[in-house]
Amino acid sequence: MIKIKDLHKNYNGLVVLNGVSVDIPEGETLAVIGPSGCGKSTLLRLILRLEEPTKGSIEIDGQNIARLSEDGLIKIRRKIGMVFQSAALFDSMSVYENVAFALREQNHFTEAEIKKVVKQKLELVELPGKENVMPSELSGGMQKRVSIARALAFDPRIILYDEPTTGLDPVTSTTIENLINKLSRELKVTSIIVTHQLSTIFRTAHRIIMLDQGRFILGGTVAETKRSDNPIIKKFITAGGET
Ligand SMILES: Nc1ncnc2c1ncn2[C@@H]1O[C@H](COP(=O)(O)OP(=O)(O)OP(=O)(O)O)[C@@H](O)[C@H]1O
Ligand SMILES: [Mg+2]
Repeated sequence: MIKIKDLHKNYNGLVVLNGVSVDIPEGETLAVIGPSGCGKSTLLRLILRLEEPTKGSIEIDGQNIARLSEDGLIKIRRKIGMVFQSAALFDSMSVYENVAFALREQNHFTEAEIKKVVKQKLELVELPGKENVMPSELSGGMQKRVSIARALAFDPRIILYDEPTTGLDPVTSTTIENLINKLSRELKVTSIIVTHQLSTIFRTAHRIIMLDQGRFILGGTVAETKRSDNPIIKKFITAGGET
């Protein structure tokens, strides 16, 4: 579903990604872990082509995203739901308007169609009937769920989660992790979760990769990662992800 090949990204001489490659098959939940500032959000921005790589390529569903026309890029982006690092909801808009936002931008959905999609997505994230609530009236975990509902608006085949549980208490984190698992199971989406929360990756990931100094270190499955001999992975796990 996603093929990343020899990806490099520099910002004015700062090397953030230094040749990372990975193939993510359809339906997999891949977790990318690594300390703050190691380039996790950058990786997701490159997959969405919100930024251009310095070198290397990304294929999504068989298409090199660097070669897409504007139209092609819009089509590919619709296959991808992005849950941003902060919930990034529009504070002045109701939950309904937040989830409806991207649909409305398309200009070809009727209000009845939009209403149906919003209702269905809110049910999927277990917030039925919250259409008319404002984001400020919701807890942090509920806001995250609204941002997930918004990412689901176009029935994406891929969901990118940027720190989906960071800043949430353990109980709320668990509800978000259960939701990530439910979406993976029921919608069979391909997911990438970037985070430094170990509990989240241990509960959700099929496969774990660590990003260290611009390169990937393969952790493998959760069990394999937990008993990894790699000193960098071992240190990260021992420190509880807070290195
Ligand atoms: N637009 C930009 N211009 C210059 N430098 C940038 C830009 N975006 C990111 N960086 C730098 O690239 C590095 C990686 O940033 P990134 O946001 O990808 O890290 P991260 O792993 O997501 O961190 P966190 O866990 O804190 O969210 C950082 O050193 C950051 O300062
Ligand atoms: Mg980040």
